[in-house]
Amino acid sequence: MKQSQGKPGRSFIAPLFVGILFGFGFATVFLSIRNEPIEQSSTVLIQTSEIFESNSTSVLTSNDSTIKTHLDLQILDAKSLEKNVRVLCWVMTSPNNHQKAMHVKKTWGKRCNILLFMSSKEDPELPSVALHNVKEGRDYLWAKTKEAFKYIYEKHYDEADWFMKADDDTFVIVENLRLFLKDYEPKTPIYFGCKFNYSVEQGYMSGGAGYVLSKEALRKFITEAIPDKQKCYEDHNGAEDLQLGKCMQNVNVTAGDSRDSFGRYRFLPFLPEKHIIPGEIEKSSWYWNYLYYPQKEGMDCCSNGAVSFHYVSPNMMYVLEYLLYHLRPFGVSADKIDTQRESSSSSKSTSSEQQDFHEQAITDTANQGKFVTI
Ligand SMILES: *[C@@H]1O[C@H](CO)[C@@H](O)[C@H](O)[C@H]1NC(C)=O
Ligand SMILES: *[C@@H]1O[C@H](CO)[C@@H](O)[C@H](O)[C@H]1NC(C)=O
Ligand SMILES: *[C@@H]1O[C@H](CO)[C@@H](O)[C@H](O)[C@H]1NC(C)=O
Ligand SMILES: *[C@@H]1O[C@H](CO)[C@@H](O)[C@H](O)[C@H]1NC(C)=O
Repeated sequence: MKQSQGKPGRSFIAPLFVGILFGFGFATVFLSIRNEPIEQSSTVLIQTSEIFESNSTSVLTSNDSTIKTHLDLQILDAKSLEKNVRVLCWVMTSPNNHQKAMHVKKTWGKRCNILLFMSSKEDPELPSVALHNVKEGRDYLWAKTKEAFKYIYEKHYDEADWFMKADDDTFVIVENLRLFLKDYEPKTPIYFGCKFNYSVEQGYMSGGAGYVLSKEALRKFITEAIPDKQKCYEDHNGAEDLQLGKCMQNVNVTAGDSRDSFGRYRFLPFLPEKHIIPGEIEKSSWYWNYLYYPQKEGMDCCSNGAVSFHYVSPNMMYVLEYLLYHLRPFGVSADKIDTQRESSSSSKSTSSEQQDFHEQAITDTANQGKFVTI
């Protein structure tokens, strides 16, 4: 130690080399940590669904670009899902409601791969499609549904894998829809929504929460069901959702189960508050008798990966947009919440510590990596 004081040049160079070596070492470790999960994207996807469907409250991160958490990976996944799980959304609307439908376009609608508004009048501003042979009014909802799907089958069949119908007061969390659908094949004849047990043996999907048809389900609906009046009601009137359910059953399109692994619904036919606050839907309501599967009240009503809500006013669309896509409580990470949930089980503290350590390591190496480049 003492002798090196006499040789300032050397004492400066040695730590510099050591520093550079460490720096590159850390940078390499950092890069490998960053790259590994991105390359193994299917593994990441599984982790992502687990986090999303776990009994946790939220998924958050700070805006600091050096702190990489699962949220970054989720964003990457959401981008790859957008290409691989293509969703066409069509919104049932009418000339009187075109202004209202505009708020769908400004909020959730823009996240669909293709967004169409189906009406009886053309509106270049929305824009809406003027369907053939339909008049306005509840009495024509079934005719509009058939015509809308026919139009889509003719013009957009090759451009999407899944075909989602929503009302102009439905709010869809499109990313969660893709996350859910990624485990199903578009060539399977299946459709999903809020399943009701009434009149149709396998159940049918309630209209307001929206429903999504696989590519094959759409093909069967158009080519096998609609042309055959034994299979599908040919007139214009009738409850649109129930009629669709009958056609689907008659051409062997499965009414799928879209609940999460906790049995919580993903497609919800009311506003969040109706499902979350016990008693908001009266005990005597028809609703409880119609549900195909049991549904809880309170926070366990609805999946953390919920896909849709209904009776959403234009104002509420912007509220949901803000709560879902902007507001984030700082410092609450998906990993931490996820391990908190495991805290009831015995092996928890080690995995939680490991997780904290892992995050700390990524942050530290990120900072080290940054140092090298300065
Ligand atoms: C979720 O967690 C809460 C409290 O942490 C618990 O009361 C509830 O039963 C859990 N729900 C499920 C579906 O596990
Ligand atoms: C947050 O990060 C994004 C990009 O990562 C950046 O565009 C934005 O300006 C940041 N916001 C704040 C408040 O720092
Ligand atoms: C559906 O309703 C029928 C008759 O109302 C009943 O027999 C059947 O068990 C119900 N199915 C389910 C899955 O609840
Ligand atoms: C539906 O499935 C049943 C039983 O597997 C079969 O008999 C029937 O022909 C099928 N119908 C159509 C339209 O595919």
